[in-house]
Amino acid sequence: MSGNEVNPSRRRFLTAATTVVGGVGVAFALVPFISSMQPSAKARAAGAPVRADISKLEPGQMIRVKWRGKPVWIVDRTPEMLDTLPTLDSQLRDPQSDHSEQPDYAKNGYRSIKPKYLILIGICTHLGCSPTFRPDIAPADLGKEWKGGFFCPCHGSRFDLAGRVFTGVPAPLNLPVPPHRYLSETEILIGDEGGAA
Ligand code: FES
Repeated sequence: MSGNEVNPSRRRFLTAATTVVGGVGVAFALVPFISSMQPSAKARAAGAPVRADISKLEPGQMIRVKWRGKPVWIVDRTPEMLDTLPTLDSQLRDPQSDHSEQPDYAKNGYRSIKPKYLILIGICTHLGCSPTFRPDIAPADLGKEWKGGFFCPCHGSRFDLAGRVFTGVPAPLNLPVPPHRYLSETEILIGDEGGAA
């Protein structure tokens, strides 16, 4: 073989080696990128705010949406429902919500930004069942004093129409209010930490 001749098998080897090195280089470059991206992308997806359309919600009704895998309730409270709230304080464990979970803008008598719309995480603060919405007045199973609220059938915890827990039941705290804000008159962003816009 003269000095100018190329050994074809050596050339193939060099080409293959270059390709492999190139491939490894790309792989090393990608791995740190992917591993630094994945957790935050996952976290974003798991905790992403959820839009709730309340345009079809009628007075006295409740709709449910899901946020972070949890049920979130939105109730359109009638003026009569709102009127019951101040009358119940003496029967409640945490009437001012001093020990319960809600954003500052929902720490008030209605536990909401707009009085008529109640927004709660629908998970009992006792052992995590999902209570039922019981807006009916004085039903046979809940008694003459019942003015509407939420009832957890698991161990009998009762909450009023602001998610405030009654005394004498196992649940220790009011139902939590998730962070949220209004995008318009008919749309709420659940899980947005931005405050009461
Ligand atoms: S989980 Fe609701 S009362 Fe026990």
